[in-house]
Amino acid sequence: MTSAAIGDVVLEVDNLSTVFELKAGVARPVNGVNFQLRRGEILGVVGESGSGKSVTGLSILGLIDPPGRIESGAIRLNGLDLTKIDESEMRRHRGRSVSMIFQDPMTTLNPVLTIGRQFFDVLRAHRNVGREEAMTIAEGALERVGIPAPRLRLSSYPHELSGGMRQRVCIAIALACGPDVIIADEPTTALDVTIQSQILNLVQTLVRQNDAALVWITHDLSVVAGLCDRVAVMYAGRIVEIGSVKEVLDRPRHPYTIGLINSIPGDAPPGGRLSQIPGGPPSPFRLPPGCAFAPRCAKAATICETNPPSLGGPEYSVRCHFPA
Ligand SMILES: Nc1ncnc2c1ncn2[C@@H]1O[C@H](COP(=O)(O)OP(=O)(O)OP(=O)(O)O)[C@@H](O)[C@H]1O
Ligand SMILES: [Mg+2]
Repeated sequence: MTSAAIGDVVLEVDNLSTVFELKAGVARPVNGVNFQLRRGEILGVVGESGSGKSVTGLSILGLIDPPGRIESGAIRLNGLDLTKIDESEMRRHRGRSVSMIFQDPMTTLNPVLTIGRQFFDVLRAHRNVGREEAMTIAEGALERVGIPAPRLRLSSYPHELSGGMRQRVCIAIALACGPDVIIADEPTTALDVTIQSQILNLVQTLVRQNDAALVWITHDLSVVAGLCDRVAVMYAGRIVEIGSVKEVLDRPRHPYTIGLINSIPGDAPPGGRLSQIPGGPPSPFRLPPGCAFAPRCAKAATICETNPPSLGGPEYSVRCHFPA
């Protein structure tokens, strides 16, 4: 354990760019992402499909494989730049100081190993524990995520558990080594609404108790409103607006954020038409030179087509030449 306190910056993503070098050309799904995360904080990341949310998460975990690579930028975890370390050192941090919860629990779980064995492997990789001690830790971890009869569950295989239970196991494994940062990539989208809200509450409580920091990737703005402290809106590989949930959701300033909020069914009159942002996002192979949203933006002027707007300070910022 470190002596870090709530409010300390634990993760700093600085101008991160991740590319895929494919036969068809170079795709730029993450193109200059900046944000800071403080201990005890939950940051929601929203944006439409393909905006680079998952690739950002995978980049932080060092899970981008060729033909993909981090092209530039820094990812500082407690000051250590993860882009500068080799795979064996990254393996020591992955699972221990930073861990990930995926949409599909079977990305994490091995179908042919018992839950207990999978805990044991994770704990043994990062902490000097024997089998008995690992089982005691695992039992406690399963209990904390609300799994009934946790001792018995240690000898279950993943297919013997429901989807919601499997996701709880993944959360327990992700938290087992007391990571500083957890990246959750739409971990509740496949679950029904009641299980989803149980899991959201659970993760929120565990993150606060452990003074960890959480990045929660989602399509769902109501989840952001209920779970997160701050929210980052991504568009075409960049954060276009970031701030407190209240600031961004109540008073959005970027035309894309405004469009996103206006397209939520909940705000539309019953039976009425939802407003939609016209057009579609640019191809990651051919990003426009200026603001990537300009071709779809009603407010766009010449400067938007030529000069990419910059993001402001780390607390609240909007990447737009003409914010609302
Ligand atoms: N392994 C890969 N090889 C090539 N291109 C990839 C790879 N992984 C992602 N991409 C591309 O990167 C872009 C961003 O993908 P990403 O998965 O980060 O989007 P996302 O915001 O998570 O979308 P969704 O909401 O659908 O999950 C997409 O255009 C995608 O096709
Ligand atoms: Mg994704």
